[in-house]
Amino acid sequence: MWLLKCRHLFALYFLISVFLTVRGLKENKTSTVGKTTDYEYHATNILDDATKRMQKIWTVRHDIFVNLAKGRGYNLINQAPIKHEIDNAYRNLVYELAANLSVIPVTQLKNHTLQRQVQRLSKLQLFGLRKTDYEEAKDMLRIMNGFLTAHMVCHVQHVKDCSKPVAMVPTILHHLARTKRLVELDYYWRMWRKAVNEQDLAKSTFINYVRLFRIAASYNGHVTPSRTWYLYYDTENFQRELEDVVWEIMPLYQEMHAYLRHAIRTAYGQSVTPDDGCLPSSVLEQIIQQAWLPRTVFHVPYPKNQLPPVQPRLEEVLVTPVKINKKAAEFFESLGLNHMSDAFYEKYSRRISAEEAGSDCKSEVYYFPPDVALRYCPNLDYKKLMQMHGHMSELQYNIYKKNLPFGLDREPCPGFGSAIGEASVIASGTPRHLHRLHILYNESLSEEESLNRVFRMGVHTILAIPQYFINDKFLVDVMDGRIGSHEYNCAYWRLQYKYAGVAPPEQRSEKNFDPDYKFYKGLNPEKSNTMKFLSEVLGHQFNRAFCLASGQYRPGDAEYPLHNCDFYGSLNAGNMIKRMMELGATKHWRDIMEIATGERKLSGKGVMEYFAPLFTFLKEENKRLNVDAGWDADINCSND
Ligand SMILES: *[C@@H]1O[C@H](CO)[C@@H](O)[C@H](O)[C@H]1NC(C)=O
Ligand SMILES: *[C@@H]1O[C@H](CO)[C@@H](O)[C@H](O)[C@H]1NC(C)=O
Ligand SMILES: *[C@@H]1O[C@H](CO)[C@@H](O)[C@H](O)[C@H]1NC(C)=O
Ligand SMILES: *[C@@H]1O[C@H](CO)[C@@H](O)[C@H](O)[C@H]1NC(C)=O
Ligand SMILES: *[C@@H]1O[C@H](CO)[C@@H](O)[C@H](O)[C@H]1NC(C)=O
Repeated sequence: MWLLKCRHLFALYFLISVFLTVRGLKENKTSTVGKTTDYEYHATNILDDATKRMQKIWTVRHDIFVNLAKGRGYNLINQAPIKHEIDNAYRNLVYELAANLSVIPVTQLKNHTLQRQVQRLSKLQLFGLRKTDYEEAKDMLRIMNGFLTAHMVCHVQHVKDCSKPVAMVPTILHHLARTKRLVELDYYWRMWRKAVNEQDLAKSTFINYVRLFRIAASYNGHVTPSRTWYLYYDTENFQRELEDVVWEIMPLYQEMHAYLRHAIRTAYGQSVTPDDGCLPSSVLEQIIQQAWLPRTVFHVPYPKNQLPPVQPRLEEVLVTPVKINKKAAEFFESLGLNHMSDAFYEKYSRRISAEEAGSDCKSEVYYFPPDVALRYCPNLDYKKLMQMHGHMSELQYNIYKKNLPFGLDREPCPGFGSAIGEASVIASGTPRHLHRLHILYNESLSEEESLNRVFRMGVHTILAIPQYFINDKFLVDVMDGRIGSHEYNCAYWRLQYKYAGVAPPEQRSEKNFDPDYKFYKGLNPEKSNTMKFLSEVLGHQFNRAFCLASGQYRPGDAEYPLHNCDFYGSLNAGNMIKRMMELGATKHWRDIMEIATGERKLSGKGVMEYFAPLFTFLKEENKRLNVDAGWDADINCSND
């Protein structure tokens, strides 16, 4: 209780002191200028102190990175305590700061930058919880993250003795991508859900987490808790805007859905899909896992026209992972953005060692101004090449925003930065770009190969978008009380039916709790499904904008389709990126996205135009195969 009040005490203390100062100094009632200045003076003082504390934290982070890079007996394990300590220091800083700033009447501040700074820093998500609640929320995130990584399910080939239980990541996912046996898909689907929800663990952890989020929302004065979940989007009913995008791409989604339904009936037999036309969730998981693998359950549009292999040439041309990094850096240099110096590569770029890498080797970008750094995964393949463009984009972002005032030296809303990165990831994977790197001989693929490529991208992107939306909506609807405790699971499936045409592979009830592993991953505000959604959708909007600006996408010109656009070397596109990055969070994200897109809303336009040839193909092919797009939309909740 005391801790709970603590934040309010700070607030009270400040309210009184500001009030007294204002009274003492400003007897002249006709003048409000002085009062404003006084609030500004206070806010500036508070922020100056906070900035100094933040710089100390950055210094520690910087030193850890440098020591790690020098390999002085440091590794990620023995760093854990100090990391924990810095995380704590950061949390304490933003927590106190929010309390100290929350008494400043934002509207009274004349300086807009300062106003925005105070606005952004005076409300928090999980960091706004008192210490014990915050620790509890972190524990819950850890537990739910364990649903992905803990070895909980008996291997399908050792069910009897269960000697080697396996985890979702990586073993089950690996298996799902490769098995051709429906029973194995269904087995893992059912057993993983059973394991995570043993004694209601998954459900109760989730509900408890939501409870804490509601507390954080109440500190922000948000009557509707999802306002805190969508804090940085600064929009009334942001959920609605996401939903509009889902409906916008729905015609394409439905054709893809119908095509895949036909494919899996061919692979697994007619009875695999229910009569209502839905896809079973277990098979959908497999399809998404298989997007880029050979020998999938679905056929690419032209099975005889396999994509030319890029791996052998890629190894010949790029030779080392460092060269991949340099090529990705060069992409941004060609746009007129910052040059990554030799000093950067020597001091601030570090290879992840084999023992750290694990199965899920992930590169990471660091920010401790004035420096930025990179730990990279030393794989040498196509996927890494593309992903590295996203990391380089983040490094560029960090460089451009580092001189902005504290709190505004970040992206204007979560997912904005990775959307900019996504555009370069998309461009770097095009045949035109691979040709530029001398990995492909031709700058465009044949029509058939090209369609195969766009199809595989579509499996990945088009199926994923509604899933991000559903996961986000389920969370938010529970949080706001629109979904009641008597119908969690049914409500989840209602969303799956409505927005994705996906059904459980067997009869389920409220004894079950069926969200997939990505749902749990996305409960962390720093890795939310909302962000993923933005990264894909806004990423395609940016890609379209940069492609138009560079002249590499010319609507109506078959030589320059959006799906083969490489805006490498375009100073026009680079200029847009630079202007957006330099603004950090000093403006609303809509003002910033408008610089590139000319639009102020999320839209499916980028996705639809990118996949236009696929849409045409699917419509014709579905007609030829005599399969209908769509499904029967509704289910009723039965609470047995
Ligand atoms: C109040 O401020 C106005 C404008 O600054 C000034 O003209 C006026 O003399 C002041 N009155 C008093 C009582 O100080
Ligand atoms: C908040 O105000 C308190 C009380 O003046 C002060 O001790 C603390 O350092 C301030 N913290 C921040 C981050 O502004
Ligand atoms: C407005 O506030 C920002 C951030 O606090 C500061 O850097 C800037 O100098 C201020 N501008 C003016 C005109 O005082
Ligand atoms: C490159 O494209 C041309 C024209 O489409 C085609 O004739 C040629 O075979 C292609 N070359 C390679 C190596 O694929
Ligand atoms: C669901 O229930 C409503 C009202 O009870 C009914 O009108 C509707 O037909 C039902 N839908 C299905 C798919 O069973």
